[in-house]
Parts: sequence; structure tokens; C-alpha cells
Amino acid sequence: VTGVINIPVYVHVVYSNSSENVSDNQINSQLSVLNKDFRKTNNDINQVPSEFSGITADSEITFSLAGTFRHANSRTSWGTNDAVKSAYPPVTPETHLNIWVCNIGGGILGYAQFPGGSSSTDGVVLLYSSLPGGSAAPYNQGRTATHEVGHYLNLRHIWGDGRCNRDDFVADTPTSDAPNYGCPSYPTVNCRSNDMTMNYMDYTDDACMYMFSEGQKSRMRALFASGGPRASMAN
Ligand code: ARG
Ligand code: ZN
Ligand code: CA
Repeated sequence: VTGVINIPVYVHVVYSNSSENVSDNQINSQLSVLNKDFRKTNNDINQVPSEFSGITADSEITFSLAGTFRHANSRTSWGTNDAVKSAYPPVTPETHLNIWVCNIGGGILGYAQFPGGSSSTDGVVLLYSSLPGGSAAPYNQGRTATHEVGHYLNLRHIWGDGRCNRDDFVADTPTSDAPNYGCPSYPTVNCRSNDMTMNYMDYTDDACMYMFSEGQKSRMRALFASGGPRASMAN
């Protein structure tokens, strides 16, 4: 697959009070953050240390808002078991990224389904206050969406979810031991290499994550190739 791939997005806002009923403005700025981060036009990209600056990627994937659905519901938290998706099913997930915005609860910022799963649960769930300008500081600059859409596009956590010997299946992201939090200084050394703590697929603060790698770009774009699990989105 060559060239820019645009993914149309449906947003389902599920709210039990007015703060959970995020504004159209916030949804638009969330889409804007996704577009900047996935096209490497984020203004913090220049903070990437020189060790990694040669492999920062413009994924050539963009997102456009196709529609917003608003649902008032007295339920005050939805958990991570897809209950919100059963209540409000995804709309044409074969061709659209579905994003549910709600109160998840339990301190969870977001969760996503990897490609290849059931279409009835395909998409990304975001904590309403993680949207840009929300109240979930230091996770309120919209990068939970960037991270979760990374999962939706087949990216694993940068540390491969396991202690130096587990892979994220991306060659140019250094092996790491465990998630990094906060805003780590460079270099942060684990598993005898410098961690790419500024990668969107780590667990650092929104202000301290600002790159995908070329290897991650290839892994994401492979999904859209003919026969791939998201091929139906690329045309
Ligand atoms: N804990 C969530 C996950 O693993 C999201 C982490 C988001 N991090 C952030 N800085 N916004 O999917
Ligand atoms: Zn994650
Ligand atoms: Ca790796």
C-alpha cells in the first residue's frame, strides 16, 4: 500500500453527566491530535533525541470525522469488558474506526481491540477526560487516543509486555523491561539499551510521548495490504 490512507471515524459519546458529554470542539481537537501525531506534524517531534531522530515516522495515515453519536445513559462507569460497545454497537467497522468516549472507571484511560478480532467489538474506547483539554492531567493532551489507535493498528507496547525478553515485533524499537511513566530523562537504560520512552506506545505522560518509528509504521501499514485484516479500509 502506498500513499496516504484516510480512516473515517465515528465517535460515540456516552454520558451520564455534562462533563462526560464532551463538546464537538474537543472531538475536533482530538482528531487534529491524531492527524498530527500520525503524520509527524506534532510540534514536539523535534524533542526526539538524535539517537532516534533518524527513524521517526510519518505513518501517512489520517483520520476524518464521519459522524458523532450522542447517547445519554444513567450508567456512570463502563469498565473494560466492551459493555459500552454492546450498548451502542460499532457502525460499519469494516470501513470506519469507531471510538467510544465515556467514563471507563478504575483509572483506565483507554483500551483497544487489536486487528483480527470480532467486528462487533472493533474500535477504541477512551476516557472522556483524556481528550485534549480534559481533566485527566497529565493525560489530557489527546495522546491516549494516539496510543489506543496504535493498538487498533496492531502496535504492541514498546516493552513488548515483558522483561527484556519479549518482543513488540518491531525491529527499530529497542528492547525494554517494563513501562516507563512520567517524563523520563534521556537516556533511560534498560536491557542494555536506551529506552524509546518518547514513543507513543510507552506509558509516559502525554507531554513526553511524541513519536512512532519507521518499524511501527511498516507494521501498521501492513494491515491495509491486500488480504490484510484492515484491507477493506484502504479503498
Ligand atoms: N493504559 C492505557 C493502555 O495501555 C493507555 C495509556 C495511555 N498513555 C498516555 N500517556 N495517554 O492502553
Ligand atoms: Zn496500551
Ligand atoms: Ca523492538
